[in-house]
Amino acid sequence: METVLSRPLKMTTTGLDASLLSFTGSFSSARKFKFPANIRLTVESGCKTIKAYSSTSNDDSNKNLMCASYGRRGLVFKATLPFLLPLHNSIEGLDANAADEYFLIKEEVKKVLSKGKAAGVLRLVFHDAGTFDMAENSGGMNGSIIYELDRPENKGLKKSLKILEKAKSEVDIIQPVSWADIIAVAGAEAVSVCGGPKIPVQLGRVDSMVPDPEGKLPQESLDASGLKKCFQGKGLSTQELVALSGAHTLGSKGFGNPVVFDNSYFKILLEKPWLSSAGMSSMIGLPSDRALVEDDECTRWISKYADNQNLFFEDFKNGYIKLVNSGARWKKSL
Ligand code: HEM
Repeated sequence: METVLSRPLKMTTTGLDASLLSFTGSFSSARKFKFPANIRLTVESGCKTIKAYSSTSNDDSNKNLMCASYGRRGLVFKATLPFLLPLHNSIEGLDANAADEYFLIKEEVKKVLSKGKAAGVLRLVFHDAGTFDMAENSGGMNGSIIYELDRPENKGLKKSLKILEKAKSEVDIIQPVSWADIIAVAGAEAVSVCGGPKIPVQLGRVDSMVPDPEGKLPQESLDASGLKKCFQGKGLSTQELVALSGAHTLGSKGFGNPVVFDNSYFKILLEKPWLSSAGMSSMIGLPSDRALVEDDECTRWISKYADNQNLFFEDFKNGYIKLVNSGARWKKSL
């Protein structure tokens, strides 16, 4: 069996973060986690040929060589791509290689993602990225969630990661992708498939090889000032706290249709249905959702988003981009 170090070493194409190469840390602790160990084995079998070309540059001739070595599926992808060019060329601001990769990841994610799975996948993004601690410069969007699935706050996320495992192994056959990148793209797709804004995601995050420090995600029992403080520590403003909390419009907490991404969350928050004794109203929302609408500054944003869905979409998009870039280490500097 290969060690957990083998995959990142194979990713040493150009400019891989030097700190990762010099990693000598706790393999034994990483091995303890059953889920990632399985993932790595799957990835290993899919990536055999990458090894031979991993130390070369990323130019086009090289990509053709790589595709040749990936066998039929790689060739089919390469051959099909020109017909899809009008689509993938529309990914603004990306060079051709990055656009290819982005397109490939999105296509594989779309194959495994349905509306019913979107909420869990979006939550996965927050639980990977939301560990970021600016002061300690730790955590963030680094794929470390794969080592943290047994933590109580991550209950239920194993199945969301399992869904993405298939997409990741398919992408890995053509071009290795980090967990951090695939989760970030998948969360954006989850929003989009449910009718939310289209969110462009920068690629090139390097995965961490160890779990992030514990206790960094906000607890649902926090009041508004606790939530604000927690988000501030991650470089996120009150406005971003409110906009990003709008993700709870998806899922089963009672904010409208569980598979439709819209501004129902804010409309329903303003009604405070949990104060009513009628039916299931008292079950709506988490304590942290209810806390937001008890705070004047948060309520100003809640009202704006309840009145103007386009503004919510725009601010959610920008907040999401910031979230998935939090604490990320990049193959190449941005
Ligand atoms: C503000 C602080 C936050 C707290 C305290 C919090 C906590 C929680 C909790 C306790 C749940 C319920 C999990 C369950 O059903 O077992 C949940 C669900 C969810 N959270 Fe958050 N969350 C926060 C912010 C966010 C952010 C910023 C996002 C994404 C941008 C997010 C995305 C989601 C989604 C999509 C669900 C529904 C999951 C499902 O139904 O499968 N959350 N959150």
